[in-house]
Amino acid sequence: MIALDFRRLLLCNSAVQQLTTSEPYICRHIIRIMSDKVSVLSEKIAAAQLGGGEKRIESQHKKGKLTARERLHFLLDENSFEELGMLVTHRSTNFGLDKEVYLGDGVVTGYGTIHGRLVYVFSQDFTVMGGSLAEAHAEKICRIMDLAMQNGAPVIGLNDSGGARIQEGVVSLGAYADIFYRNTRASGVVPQISAIMGPCAGGAVYSPALTDFILMVENTSYMFVTGPNVVKTVTHEEVTSEELGGASTHASKSGVTHFKADNDVACLRMIRELLQYMPQNCEEKSPTAGYSGGNESRIKLDTIIPDNPNQPYDMHEVIAEVIDEGSWMEVHKEYAENIIVGFARIAGRSIGVVANQPAFLAGVLDIKSSTKGARFVRFCDSFNIPLLVFEDVPGFLPGTDQEWNGIISNGAKLLYAFSEATVPRVTVITRKAYGGAYDVMNSKHIGADMNYAWPTAEIAVMGAKGAAEIIFKKEISEAANPEQKWKEKESEYAELFANPYSAAQRGYVDEVIVPSQTREKLIRAFAMLENKVDTMPRKKHSNMPL
Ligand code: HXC
Repeated sequence: MIALDFRRLLLCNSAVQQLTTSEPYICRHIIRIMSDKVSVLSEKIAAAQLGGGEKRIESQHKKGKLTARERLHFLLDENSFEELGMLVTHRSTNFGLDKEVYLGDGVVTGYGTIHGRLVYVFSQDFTVMGGSLAEAHAEKICRIMDLAMQNGAPVIGLNDSGGARIQEGVVSLGAYADIFYRNTRASGVVPQISAIMGPCAGGAVYSPALTDFILMVENTSYMFVTGPNVVKTVTHEEVTSEELGGASTHASKSGVTHFKADNDVACLRMIRELLQYMPQNCEEKSPTAGYSGGNESRIKLDTIIPDNPNQPYDMHEVIAEVIDEGSWMEVHKEYAENIIVGFARIAGRSIGVVANQPAFLAGVLDIKSSTKGARFVRFCDSFNIPLLVFEDVPGFLPGTDQEWNGIISNGAKLLYAFSEATVPRVTVITRKAYGGAYDVMNSKHIGADMNYAWPTAEIAVMGAKGAAEIIFKKEISEAANPEQKWKEKESEYAELFANPYSAAQRGYVDEVIVPSQTREKLIRAFAMLENKVDTMPRKKHSNMPL
């Protein structure tokens, strides 16, 4: 930690002063010069560490926020931080900026470790001109991004900034673009994580938006392209900053943030936890934690599916039984809850889980859930994290709202993301696998490696009732008792298709398994797929429907 380095420097300085008493004149002279020079350095370090000064630090604390350096202390392993560019300053003289010079220019940058693994970090200092971003500030961020790319380690940005430094004008805009460009280049090469720990407005939202994961702190952070004042002028809507772009809004309404934390410390701890599930870069395998094996049978799974096929159950319970205990980190928890995505471990290996949630909108696929699922699948595939899919889906959500807002192209995103993924992919069909959604949810036809079904699975074009109504319409309407006829035809269709066996006969399902065996089967399947190699056809890049 920088604070420790600073103490060491002061100690060293006083040791030099003690030495002078017993040395000859010339040596004492050199040492005095050295001592003076070290004092200058010490003063500079002290000034840099004070950022915008005591008063502004106090005001930061009063808002319930930590300072840029305090945040790094909680984020990184103890004593692991090495600061770069502490003495960098801006070069602008516009609007009196030459009289307002702060060492470090409002951002603390460097590298350190999290759980012993290298990470690059920047932490914006709101006490220095509101953490505003301009030329020198951005150069520091770009430097650590370049280092991260060259050395293959994640970049973590702690954002707390009033946006482009207004006094530096267009230079600030260019500086932002330098970061956006690097965000895009680094995408899929090293994991990029953005914590929003204060205001984040205008162009400032776009660097986080280009990164893999966003975390926001409740009540102290917000993100928007234009703030409440502009909104009021243009649309006459009255809205607070919190309603417009606070953590809850982005966690549940827009899906811009993947995680929401109660406070700064909780947010920084979440980042540490999140990193445990991902490799350092796209060349590495997904990380593994220790696993000693044991009884893998989970009898609770045999009783989770209700007798009535239209009754909901919570897919979280299925996931919890199958993954390693205590290994769950859900992503986008409050957004598009009809699909669940998150990181877990199975037999120690980090995996990504994608699951329909029958307890929310019957687990139907719609625009939001398709986009949420696609984004997660693509992250996992970029970083070699195997995918496990639990399927219980009645189809795509019908309606004008969905059609007019593009369920066709948005649903295609999930289809595309799975089809494109080359990581090990395993599906478990727990109940419904209806219609196009059967194809989309990691079916064997689009490249899944293993596909299991529980005996409760129904793999069909649609539910038996609807199917009977369409294909036996004439027969039903002409029957003496149409209701009874309909029931008859419904059970005829159900007998043929509301089970996993037609699909198993054709090999679309590799094995129909007793639910309690699921964990054991998955451990074996993922171990079998450990060294899977699959490549995409040669191309410049793919063109997924956006
Ligand atoms: C320079 C800024 C600044 C900025 C804040 N400060 N934002 N200095 N450029 N963008 C300074 C203030 O002058 C103040 O200095 C200190 O930071 C703290 O600001 P306060 O307003 O006192 O704090 P607070 O009340 O908490 O309000 C924070 C804030 C507000 C909501 C962020 O400062 C604000 O609205 N700032 C402007 C936001 C903005 O419009 N940014 C440009 C966005 S456009 P002192 O000396 O008093 O401590 C953009 C384009 C990028 O970013 C496009 C890229 C493509």
